[in-house]
Amino acid sequence: MHIHSSEIRSKYLEFFKTKSHAIIPSAPLVPENDPSVLFNTAGMQPLVPYLLGQPHPMGKRIADVQKCVRTGDIDDVGDDTHLTFFEMLGNWSLGDYFKKESIAWSWEFLTDSKWLGLDPKMISVTVFEGDENAPRDEESADIWKSLGINADRIAYLPAEDNWWAAGPTGPCGPDTEIFYWVGEGEPQGNKGTHSKAWMEIWNNVFMQYNRVDANTLDKLPAPCVDTGMGLERVTVTLNGMKSVYETDAFADVLTAIKDLVGAENYVESSARIVADHLRSATHMISDGVVPKNVDQGYILRRLIRRAIREAYKMGYEKPIVADVAKLFIAKFENVYASVKTGADRILSELGKEEEKFGKSLKDGMREFDKLVKGFEIAFERTGQKITQIAGNKAFTLFDTYGFPVEMTVELAKERGLTVDVEGFEAAFAKHQELSRTAAEGKFKGGLGDQSGETVALHSACHLMLSGLRKVLGAHVAQAGSNITAERLRFDFTHGEKMTPEQISAVEAYVNEAIASGLRVTVSEEAKETAKGRGVIGSFWEKYPDVVKVYKMSGGNGTVYSEELCGGPHVETSAEMGKFKIVKEEASSSGVRRIKAVLEK
Ligand code: SER
Repeated sequence: MHIHSSEIRSKYLEFFKTKSHAIIPSAPLVPENDPSVLFNTAGMQPLVPYLLGQPHPMGKRIADVQKCVRTGDIDDVGDDTHLTFFEMLGNWSLGDYFKKESIAWSWEFLTDSKWLGLDPKMISVTVFEGDENAPRDEESADIWKSLGINADRIAYLPAEDNWWAAGPTGPCGPDTEIFYWVGEGEPQGNKGTHSKAWMEIWNNVFMQYNRVDANTLDKLPAPCVDTGMGLERVTVTLNGMKSVYETDAFADVLTAIKDLVGAENYVESSARIVADHLRSATHMISDGVVPKNVDQGYILRRLIRRAIREAYKMGYEKPIVADVAKLFIAKFENVYASVKTGADRILSELGKEEEKFGKSLKDGMREFDKLVKGFEIAFERTGQKITQIAGNKAFTLFDTYGFPVEMTVELAKERGLTVDVEGFEAAFAKHQELSRTAAEGKFKGGLGDQSGETVALHSACHLMLSGLRKVLGAHVAQAGSNITAERLRFDFTHGEKMTPEQISAVEAYVNEAIASGLRVTVSEEAKETAKGRGVIGSFWEKYPDVVKVYKMSGGNGTVYSEELCGGPHVETSAEMGKFKIVKEEASSSGVRRIKAVLEK
């Protein structure tokens, strides 16, 4: 029996629909107004505000499939398990049901013949053994037993295994994890006794706390449930396969790559990298990311270029990215609307990037080989072995030939060499205002920096967009935003440079609103109504039928902004300070970029 990933995905949503869950679309890969991460890395990430107590417009029972990207393990891609893009199946209780229903429904979905119909014998679970934060979770263990799980299939494990936290701060709590037997022969013991033979397939987190800082663990306004089941992992496991590349998610793509490069040139690990990276790239572009040298665009560029080099390693020097991406578009266009509507853009962005890089890859490789040859000659002459490529050389490879530094590191490693990455970064920072480390550092951050500063800047963003539309015209729409505690950065559609007078007028608009004693209120209304009456918003298609509208009105009664948004915002303008635009520049064709601050 082969269970297709698409079947698991649709059955999962169907099942939770029968348990009165609202099915919501995946949030875009790039989090809105969360500067602490470049991409959503967990299913729960876009739902953090709701776990913290904000009412969700779709109710208290939610199920979804969330697109996620993790690039921390990018060097391991090519093995059986690591992927940079994955889909998380999740069901959520936002202050509604708790352990009993959550566990019973997981069991029913997995074992009932109407759903996945797995053999109960193949399943074991873990529960939290207890520590100073929360007691031993006998409650979950008892629920499992009442469903028919034997006591010896339950392992009590410490926080390291059975406490889930979104990041250093944010919602957290004990969890119960569900495992499937992948060992030899008959299932034995549990995760505690036969660790490697049991593969995790589902994680049910009982969110009860909000970690505010290292010493403060607040109770959440209402206990919640956050479950996560990695679609690719569960597909491999349930099909008794060894590798995710054997499943329907990838198998035909690898065959197509083999046909393209020729069976005699085919290298499995290279083909896996090509497939994985272009699958991620397809989704990133569908969510509005374009190849660039900073932030999300840099990650995208790195993935595309690495894929191209892997194809090149297999001796394939012709265009390949569009051929591979087309297969992923076909797989996902009926799952994610953004892939369908973005299909042409995905292919054209990939094609442009391939053309740009394809031209210089060969020359760059020649340059790299020359460099290494130089090391060998120096060794013959002087007897001194050089083992490190200098930072400025790595920078030349980047600047002239478009080699992301990680690629140079990889090339160097293949020859037993290292790269002075710090030296590269210093050279890079000298040439560009933003260093890559700053972008990369964002992976390490926690979730949703909702400090006072970022929230105030987010509110200022709304006022500024209204001001821009007032001063420049209604063609102005948001094209991207990124907020840190220090400043806001905002991209918007507009064809020409703003004059100093226009900039002052927008600043004056925002500052007038702030000075007028702003009050911010939020209401829910039907999406079509909000759209019809001119509420500002972008990506309407990504929102549910009922949307949240934030209204900012002055003490004088003037409405300064009404915009579609998930929050959070200030309640009044008392703490906002003075708004100032510090830079206005071109971002890309037809898009301008503003950097602005609030001066206290
Ligand atoms: N937050 C948990 C996880 O990512 C369950 O969704 O594993």
